[in-house]
Amino acid sequence: MPGRTVLVSDPTWDNHHGLFQRAGFKTATYPYWNRANRSVDFDGMVKALEAAEAGSIVVIQPVCHNPTGVDLDERQQAAVTDVLVAKGHIVVFDMAYQASAPASTTMPPSCAATRSARAASWPIPSRRTSRSMASAAAA
Ligand SMILES: Cc1ncc(COP(=O)(O)O)c(C=O)c1O
Repeated sequence: MPGRTVLVSDPTWDNHHGLFQRAGFKTATYPYWNRANRSVDFDGMVKALEAAEAGSIVVIQPVCHNPTGVDLDERQQAAVTDVLVAKGHIVVFDMAYQASAPASTTMPPSCAATRSARAASWPIPSRRTSRSMASAAAA
């Protein structure tokens, strides 16, 4: 898979670009944050994920999004999951701050992202760190 493009949110944790590029991927962004409204650009995100080539690699931060601190609500997460499944995108969940959020909203199977992913029969790794994230995408 190296050489392919990994889609990350705009904005994202800066190191996402560096670590995937270092592993041989290109990086590009999908809209996430509406700076004017100071809220998630949900429509922009969905449109971009729909427009992306089928089978794209997409990094999703389902909880405690870095750097905005604002997450999709459960309805939005379910809608995004529908798009990810319909397009056959390859998803890398980055839940680096899962332990910092209320357990009831983040821990599998309660986390909306992983619950909807489970419903879609995705395999959910227990934890990925920055050291293993790029190799997960490369697998
Ligand atoms: C979004 C995000 N992913 C991954 C990491 C790195 O996590 P770890 O130190 O567990 O590899 C960080 C750390 O700041 C982060 O903000």
